[in-house]
Amino acid sequence: MIRYYDHTDLTRRNSFGIRATAHRLAEFTAEEELREIFAELRRSGSSWRALGGGNNIIFRDDFPGTLIRCAARGIELLSQDETCARVRADAGVEWDDLVDWCCRRGLWGVENLSLIPGTVGAAPVQNIGAYGAEAGEVIESVRFLSADTGEAAVLRGEECRFGYRDSIFKHELAGAGFITSVVFRLALAPRPRLRYGAMQQEVERLGEATLHNIRRAVVSIRRAKLPDPAVTGNAGSFFKNPVVPLSAAERIAERYPDMPRYAAPEPGTVKLAAGWLIDRAGLRGASFGRVGVHSRQALVLVNLGGATGRDVLECAEQVRTRVRETFGVDIEPEVNIF
Ligand code: EPU
Repeated sequence: MIRYYDHTDLTRRNSFGIRATAHRLAEFTAEEELREIFAELRRSGSSWRALGGGNNIIFRDDFPGTLIRCAARGIELLSQDETCARVRADAGVEWDDLVDWCCRRGLWGVENLSLIPGTVGAAPVQNIGAYGAEAGEVIESVRFLSADTGEAAVLRGEECRFGYRDSIFKHELAGAGFITSVVFRLALAPRPRLRYGAMQQEVERLGEATLHNIRRAVVSIRRAKLPDPAVTGNAGSFFKNPVVPLSAAERIAERYPDMPRYAAPEPGTVKLAAGWLIDRAGLRGASFGRVGVHSRQALVLVNLGGATGRDVLECAEQVRTRVRETFGVDIEPEVNIF
């Protein structure tokens, strides 16, 4: 059944806790219903956007159109052989519920992505990633329903053009339709990935590199660094880690030999840590009105209480300017601005 909510308060529907309303929120469970919602939107000419868990969104103002949300929460094992299992999850499944489901069944591939807030449907859009793993690596296909035609298409992983916090859903297919479900391909043989930061150390503290311990390690590292959105409004990393020419990185490293840098896919470029840049620009723990830079991870902006979308964007602009002035590097928001 389609559920419509008119003039909905969005404060609890975005993890930053921004006070805003939507003209309308439409919730569906079956694809048939989504088709009907799109048909109605075509008739009325009203604007729309997809809403997942609201974890990566800043509402600049009240949203004048329709937000669409998937309420289907099924997870099913499609097939399994000696090496791999294929698992289908509806867009409305909480991402961490899927990770938990897979870890309990001994399926490897998403454990490093434990506790990332958000829904399965949002995961392919920005190719969520953490601790040396990205969702795109285990996505076999994505089911996508077109807003114009109401037809569903299945995109294979390669067709999704996954990149660092990037995919076709942010480009050619942005605003063109809605992801209704995702199929994942997970491994049965252990393949621990512990190279990132404190992972190895944390897992060793817990014992062997089992799925259970890796999940626990990720959860504890995240809890130590990242603010809990249920307590302090935030949208996770606010900026993307910038990819810069090697020469620019070397220029900064002359002054800061300890600067973290990572390999980037394009030759002659490196990825820098935006959190480190913000921190070294002297902004960790700084506040700008009702929005602050988190004191344990400078990449995260936090709601100090009652922030509006405009307050957040103002703070982000100040941070961006300071990083540009200090290092000559431009950092771009990772969050979606509605
Ligand atoms: N750093 C500082 N000061 C800070 C923050 C970071 O010096 O205030 C340094 C750290 O010491 C480290 C480096 O910067 O040397 C990188 O920091 P961290 O390992 O915390 O990761 P990140 O690059 O800041 C990315 C993702 C996170 C993900 C972590 C772990 C992006 C935009 N963010 O952050 O994803 O959890 O790696 O894999 O790529 C998210 O997207 O919402 C998110 C939390």
